[in-house]
Amino acid sequence: MTERGRFITLEGGEGVGKSTNLALVVEHLRACGHEVVATREPGGTPRAEDIRRLLLDPVEEEPLDPDAELLLVFAARAQHLARVVKPALARGAWVVCDRFTDATYAYQGGGRGIDTARIAELEAFVQRGLEPDLTLLLDMSMDAAQRRLDSRLEGQGEARDRFERERGDFFEAVRRAYLARAEAAPERVAVIDAGAGLDEVKAELLARLDARMDAWR
Ligand SMILES: Nc1ncnc2c1ncn2[C@@H]1O[C@H](COP(=O)(O)OP(=O)(O)OP(=O)(O)O)[C@@H](O)[C@H]1O
Ligand SMILES: [Mg+2]
Repeated sequence: MTERGRFITLEGGEGVGKSTNLALVVEHLRACGHEVVATREPGGTPRAEDIRRLLLDPVEEEPLDPDAELLLVFAARAQHLARVVKPALARGAWVVCDRFTDATYAYQGGGRGIDTARIAELEAFVQRGLEPDLTLLLDMSMDAAQRRLDSRLEGQGEARDRFERERGDFFEAVRRAYLARAEAAPERVAVIDAGAGLDEVKAELLARLDARMDAWR
């Protein structure tokens, strides 16, 4: 029987460097000889990406109800798990995902104030016990992350999405909720100081990843 692949997620607030560092993780795992599927949430399949657009689109005439937002997140997750993540893990591929359920606890829980018990119910319903083997949480002050994001958005001339338009206290609540998740699951979640320069962040990230991979062997 093929050994199941490993499921690794990257987490953190806006602009902390998830996408930048995901590429590094993928490259590292491929160099180790693994088949790697790089993906993201919400999204990761055409239908789930349609749901992502619904979630991010800042339609001002009709605010999105927080419960509707939560259900859309998990609808996209169900589709992504069924179509991409589970088949990949089953054939022995490693899956590296830009955001997963910790982001739901951080944004819909911490940010929107939805009771974590309700999130946990949907998590159990949709994931049936599947959770990441390792989560790399990129943590930094939200002011500094906002500055990074501003310069990136300026460079690309892009408009802010529904989440990027939120205010500072929303992002502080997101950060606190992420750190609480890490504290509750220290074996799964590695907290990385994302406020350092890129070389330093990369070195810490690869050290944490290698340590975990050694433990799995
Ligand atoms: N350690 C770092 N030091 C300085 N700049 C960085 C660092 N990491 C990433 N950046 C830059 O910060 C910006 C945001 O990074 P990136 O897009 O990877 O973040 P993200 O977490 O994926 O953001 P989003 O939440 O919007 O998806 C990019 O312009 C990136 O080049
Ligand atoms: Mg990104």
